[in-house]
Amino acid sequence: MSRGYERTTRGSKRLFTRANEVFAGGINHNARYYAPYPLFVSKARGEHIWDEDGNRYTDYWMGHMALILGHSPKIVVDALRAQIANGTHYGMGSSLSVELGEEIQKAVPCAERLRLCNTGAEATMYLVRLARGYTGKRTVIKMAGGWHGYNTELNKGVHSPFDRAESAGILQEEQEHVKTVKFNDLDAAEREVKASGGDAAVIFLEPVLGAGGCIPADRDYLKGLRELADRTGTLLAFDEIITGFRVALGGAQEWYGVTPDLASFGKIAGGGLPLGLVAGKKEILSLADPVKKEKFVSIGGGTFSENPLSMAAGLATVRHLRRRAKEIYPALDKAGKHVRIGVDEAFREAGIEAHSTGIGSLFLTHFGPEPASSGEESSEDKPMQKSYALSMMAEGVFILPGHPGGISTAHTKKDLDELILKSGKQSEYLGRATK
Ligand SMILES: Cc1ncc(COP(=O)(O)O)c(C=O)c1O
Repeated sequence: MSRGYERTTRGSKRLFTRANEVFAGGINHNARYYAPYPLFVSKARGEHIWDEDGNRYTDYWMGHMALILGHSPKIVVDALRAQIANGTHYGMGSSLSVELGEEIQKAVPCAERLRLCNTGAEATMYLVRLARGYTGKRTVIKMAGGWHGYNTELNKGVHSPFDRAESAGILQEEQEHVKTVKFNDLDAAEREVKASGGDAAVIFLEPVLGAGGCIPADRDYLKGLRELADRTGTLLAFDEIITGFRVALGGAQEWYGVTPDLASFGKIAGGGLPLGLVAGKKEILSLADPVKKEKFVSIGGGTFSENPLSMAAGLATVRHLRRRAKEIYPALDKAGKHVRIGVDEAFREAGIEAHSTGIGSLFLTHFGPEPASSGEESSEDKPMQKSYALSMMAEGVFILPGHPGGISTAHTKKDLDELILKSGKQSEYLGRATK
């Protein structure tokens, strides 16, 4: 299948060769590499991207799922045009950042206060520091398969066998107080809180494991974690960097009806420009107030934090989502269900067992037995996901191999039907690939 890909993507291959002479591994985000080489994009609009060779793809990667309104939506482009004329970077606050903060406060249940930064990894780093500063405890309990960005401490237990640092150069000591437990297993969390001997600062998880397989939490599990945290003086925190403003206006905390003490956001909140933020209870976030004398938690640097371009793009996006929430989120839910059910059926009809996971507009198709609710994958799953994504690229559909897809408001019913139809067409090839 890679031969078909290579025939039509020679420009990307040439750029990848050059990129390899400039960047380590030819890429600037590890998730963006896939064999034989990744596509290089020349432009994007609506639900489409075009590669270096001029091939058009219906895009379901959507900028790491940051683009819920599609590429370059008019409201964001207009807001950016207006802002560029007034300055691209102030290094100071502005009405834009206050207005964006107020929009987020209105939308997100836990957001009594927030602090803005530039990336998700920064937000998760701040969140851990706040949790420890507030509780005076050290242990962070995270999930096997949980991904929180290139945050040194949390770069542990992301990939199977889930018990080690993800990188050379990270000291064991730096992760000594980070413990990994099985997702969707309340007893495992309870055991770890107990084992900490009163030292558990925070239970921190993605309500839908993202890079860990697009596996949703069970509602009762999250309710159980809330109760466990309250009972033991531990904070509960959600990483909503994927789910925030995507599964509901108020994120997964609204979807599940469970309000955490702290949450990290990014992606959609920046409307397609860099943004991260940590939100939570006023009494916790107030520790970051620089006039605070006691228990001051030092977070919130960033030369480019609250830069007016991210603020303008984020504000235009979040405001639009809030004003149109009643129509946007039910439509995205319906689209997500249609894809998850339709793709699985298309494969099943062709004799291939497939299970698409996700909630709302998120989806990831797994191959082989139904994935465990803890997110552990079968051995055939990842290679099949990669073959599937590559064969879909040859059909003009872009899914980043092995990663979840996100539907945007720019995708039409015709796009979704084509995704299903084209998935079915890959059955023959994938069927052979398994034998
Ligand atoms: C759940 C989750 N947390 C944190 C991050 C890190 O965000 P960033 O890539 O902006 O640093 C990501 C990025 O994909 C993510 O999916």
